[in-house]
Amino acid sequence: MVFFSDMGGLGKRLDWNGVTSILIHSLGEVSMFLFRIFLWSVLSFSLVSQVPWIQAQEPIQPIEEMTPKNRNLIELGKMLYFDPRLSKSGFISCNSCHNLSMGGSDNLQTSIGHNWTKGPINAPTVLNSSMNLAQFWDGRAKDLKEQAGGPIANPGEMAFTHELAVDVLESIPQYQTLFQQSFGEGGINIDRVTEAIAAFEETLVTPDSRFDRWLRGDESALTADELKGYQIFKHSGCVACHNGPAVGGASYQKMGVFEPYQTDNPAEGRAAVTGIDADRFMFKVPTLRNVELTYPYFHDGAVWTLEEAVDLMGRLQLGRSFKPHQNARIVAFLKTLTGRQPTFQIPVLPPSSNSTPRPKPFQ
Ligand code: HEC
Ligand code: HEC
Repeated sequence: MVFFSDMGGLGKRLDWNGVTSILIHSLGEVSMFLFRIFLWSVLSFSLVSQVPWIQAQEPIQPIEEMTPKNRNLIELGKMLYFDPRLSKSGFISCNSCHNLSMGGSDNLQTSIGHNWTKGPINAPTVLNSSMNLAQFWDGRAKDLKEQAGGPIANPGEMAFTHELAVDVLESIPQYQTLFQQSFGEGGINIDRVTEAIAAFEETLVTPDSRFDRWLRGDESALTADELKGYQIFKHSGCVACHNGPAVGGASYQKMGVFEPYQTDNPAEGRAAVTGIDADRFMFKVPTLRNVELTYPYFHDGAVWTLEEAVDLMGRLQLGRSFKPHQNARIVAFLKTLTGRQPTFQIPVLPPSSNSTPRPKPFQ
């Protein structure tokens, strides 16, 4: 390089040529420096971007935070979710069976409906239910909006009719105002009621579980046993059915692949919707998010502990028996799927008016 050969003569002849070459040299140094920074940032960016790359390799993805869009609509939906006046008795709300203080479930084998009616099937959690491919164990409602109309008119649940529910809401001036704020003119109808409830339910996601923090690259988020539990869960094949952000909810699968499941519950699963015999005992794979909170397990709610549920899944779905320490590790892993529960102020519901139809709890 010309400059270095010039160096020797630097002291002797510091003429304009020398000054120029020093300037050129310093510029060269600066640009080398900038170039190094550039290289370094490219390198570190590719390192950082390995985190999503690691995630993409896993069959489970973290739950994204939910950014609420239409706040008025969500607030209205929350009120309706908690309002027992959508039931004939004036006593049962969505929250009665999907209690948001208890993982969005009722922790009962099967729910208790109007007049203490014994429910036919275990109530799944509403948490993260927006991620399901369809709603209900047999997928008979295509989405949350369609689902929300079901329980209000179900004689064994809220035992009301859509018309009467709308009559009740229309008789309450504050509800009229709130519906107008969310939907504009056109009053209250069941379509708007279910749309608002669904908008609220979409906010019921549970991000930031310890497992999600691990997925995002925080190695310290899991203990060694929990991580081993996840490896067993993954390598023994649980992830074939329990995968995606909800760790389930994405397909219908047969309950009892290797051995039949023994139950008194008459539920047929997907066959009740499709009429196809091959769909008998095909159920929507439940989400395993917050599964620690949503006992008892399975569509008949017959199993009260995660240990037993894991044991049954191993034998029935995979044809394998886990050793006690393997079972304990899988259970430890499942408990890391408990995410940040939705928190909010319980809505204060507007009072009924003089013309509000009276509740009929004992009819
Ligand atoms: C009496 C108890 C009860 C009440 C009240 C009730 N539900 Fe449910 N809910 C259930 C049961 C039981 C199921 C499962 C039924 C099935 O799959 O056949 C269910 C299923 C669901 C599901 C589907 C979840 C999934 O993973 O498939 C959603 C969502 C839901 N309910 C929301 C609501 C909303 C919203 C309300 C209020 C309008 C409500 N529920 C009222 C008991 C109840
Ligand atoms: C072939 C698909 C399949 C495989 C493999 C599978 N599951 Fe399941 N899992 C299901 C289905 C379907 C249900 C619901 C069955 C029912 O309620 O009748 C379920 C339910 C569960 C439940 C109960 C959840 C609840 O809320 O009721 C747990 C826990 C569970 N599985 C864990 C596991 C574990 C652990 C493994 C691996 C050892 C596993 N599953 C393998 C399909 C599968």
